[in-house]
Amino acid sequence: MSDRFAQSMADGGDGEDAPPGPGHVIPSGLAPTAPVDLSTRYLGLELASPIVASAGPFTGDLASLKALDAAGVGAVVLPSLFEEQLVHDDEQVERFSTYGSDANPEAPSGYVPNLDHYNEGAVRYLKLIRDAQQIVRGPVIASINGVTSGGWVRYAKLLAEAGADAIELNVYRVAADAEVGGRQVEQETLRLVESVAQATGVPIAVKLSPHWSALASFATQLADAGAAGLVLFNRFYQPDINLETLSVAPHLVLSNSDELRLPLRWCAILHGRVDASLAATTGVHTHLDVIKLLLAGADVTMSTSALLRHGPDHVATLTDGVTEWMDARGYSSVDELRGAVSQRTVRDPAAFERANYLETLTKYASTFLR
Ligand SMILES: Cc1cc2nc3c(=O)[nH]c(=O)nc-3n(C[C@H](O)[C@H](O)[C@H](O)COP(=O)(O)O)c2cc1C
Repeated sequence: MSDRFAQSMADGGDGEDAPPGPGHVIPSGLAPTAPVDLSTRYLGLELASPIVASAGPFTGDLASLKALDAAGVGAVVLPSLFEEQLVHDDEQVERFSTYGSDANPEAPSGYVPNLDHYNEGAVRYLKLIRDAQQIVRGPVIASINGVTSGGWVRYAKLLAEAGADAIELNVYRVAADAEVGGRQVEQETLRLVESVAQATGVPIAVKLSPHWSALASFATQLADAGAAGLVLFNRFYQPDINLETLSVAPHLVLSNSDELRLPLRWCAILHGRVDASLAATTGVHTHLDVIKLLLAGADVTMSTSALLRHGPDHVATLTDGVTEWMDARGYSSVDELRGAVSQRTVRDPAAFERANYLETLTKYASTFLR
């Protein structure tokens, strides 16, 4: 890879000079030489495109799922079943199961049929999986969000039986207990992943926050525990304080492309180093964002905020943009692109770690202190 290309990517990759790809640079406006192959593999599954709809409101709505599929989405991750819902459902299941049916909520004859009128939580989720499978041509990934191993194994099995092609475990945890150290948090998470991975016959992806003390090592341990993929990263919704009511208020702000840098860095660091697929989520808004993440080493890129902002059709805009960009630079497949600017392939691997810290600060400061 040329220095100019690396520099162009560092500058944002969208400069006027088209960076050279593996083939010849084709001046824009000329007919493409060969169709661009956008297919990729994620969690051992074949996807027609690396553009995936991450868990969010659209993936829980059938009309939006249709629109996402029509726009060419590679796969969808359904909104999460939350641990709190599972606890609630367990109580409901207990209540309903006292009406003479099979007391085992996993038993096919005793569980779903007796809860037909119960249209919330886990039961409705199983229907969503089945419906989504009828609509979406690519893989349908179910999601569970929580931190304790509680009913996860049982529910994960149900999700797989309902037809989920894979399960994403969102370990959304704020390590706020001063008595619980990092090692314990890691061990609990590894046990959870191991137990779910062993119990279900479908691949498991783990959606992580970036807040682990030694992420590269932990990522490797997660793969050893059975994670087929890592989803980088979970986006915490930080609470705010309402100064009128002096109460803590939830605060959801959609992301922007600037937030791409964190998954970009970690995809680049982990690519080729961990035996698991990599999905990048947070800050994927434009086709250039998708390309940067693929170059860094992501197998798929996921979007929610951009889809909420522009609608499900935005998938087609991203797809067209990626195709045109690749075509103009002579790339014929995502395989050629993936990892071409990862830490293992760039001339200056330290650029993804600390080494450019001083240079960045100095350069920025010099624009003020002349
Ligand atoms: C309204 C909304 C609902 C979401 N629901 C879920 C969810 O149920 N499970 C989950 O794992 N992530 C959920 N997310 C997080 C997204 O899947 C995604 O990881 C995050 O928004 C970062 O990607 P983005 O920058 O494309 O928005 C949600 C995000 C938004 C904005």
